[in-house]
Amino acid sequence: MGKSYKLGIIKGDGIGPEIVDEAINVLDAVATKFGFEISYEEFLLGGAAIDETGVPLPQETINGVKKVDAVLFGAIGGPKWDNLERHLRPESGLLALRKEMGTFANLRPAIVYDELINASTLKPDVVRGVDIMVVRELTGGIYFGQPREYAQDRAYNTMVYTREEIARIAKVAFDIAMKRDKRVCSVDKANVLEVSQLWREVVEEVAKDYPEVELSHMYVDNAAMQLIREPKQFDVIVTGNIFGDILSDAASMLSGSIGLLPSASTGSKVGLYEPIHGSAPDIAGQGIANPIATIASAAMLLRYELDETEAADAIDNAIKKVLADGYRTGDIAAFDAKEVVSCTEMGNIIANYISKS
Ligand code: IPM
Ligand code: MG
Repeated sequence: MGKSYKLGIIKGDGIGPEIVDEAINVLDAVATKFGFEISYEEFLLGGAAIDETGVPLPQETINGVKKVDAVLFGAIGGPKWDNLERHLRPESGLLALRKEMGTFANLRPAIVYDELINASTLKPDVVRGVDIMVVRELTGGIYFGQPREYAQDRAYNTMVYTREEIARIAKVAFDIAMKRDKRVCSVDKANVLEVSQLWREVVEEVAKDYPEVELSHMYVDNAAMQLIREPKQFDVIVTGNIFGDILSDAASMLSGSIGLLPSASTGSKVGLYEPIHGSAPDIAGQGIANPIATIASAAMLLRYELDETEAADAIDNAIKKVLADGYRTGDIAAFDAKEVVSCTEMGNIIANYISKS
């Protein structure tokens, strides 16, 4: 008998349940094919948790996710919960979960599928072959810095990074670069912010342990511009929490659809894997969502957390094949579609490719 794994499943809100179901469908297909077992345990987070328990991150979720091998997560949030107090909003639940799990390293690949080159709003020549890994610090910076306060006439947040926090995220970025094109671009705002000055110093220090990796620095405003101007110049981008939030959204659009890209939040014992898009409440429950980003997140989970490389490759190859064969969900239907399929159909086609390959 092969290995057996236990995954935590957080379906969340909006299209979350539909897309996660298809990722499970595909995970079951690779488990059968490659001879391992996966069991699943569901946990509540976000709006779904608020509705059932009154809080966005219930204690059972905090306890439960620490006892599984990895967590696969859909998406959270929606207009229904937008007017709640900040600490009771779905997003606060996700931020608190990242902090509780200690997943300080957020990996957000931005790759352009050749088959969907026309989906990008940029010229094909600019985006063909783009393969960037954004490494975003996820549990520090201005998202979590103290003091913070909202008052009627004056409000503030604090951007804080310690030497240790910067060094550990830099190491993650350099380690990843060693397995890629060996180039790291560190993004900061060192011309204005003290916190960025320290960031730069510490990244320089860590770089000394990686003589093969070429390190460059860029200010965040320039980086935003360069991502659109000439994205192929980037291999690995390492940056803080809020800059990474912004730049990873921009980078994702190089591929043309935010429905395609996965992400991994790692660095701790248990990692959290999720599509980079949101809960898309406007199309929830209609069966038209694109499950590919979540399925690709399941592939990242197999690769980075469970070391099931063959299974991860099989999923990534099946995704390329469905796109090459012209199957499209609604969001990418305008781009060389041979057949427009539903969320469930997309999951089934990918699962079938895997079973039959
Ligand atoms: C993301 C999202 C979250 C973030 C929100 C929903 C809190 O934008 O994962 O990028 O800002 O980190
Ligand atoms: Mg974001």
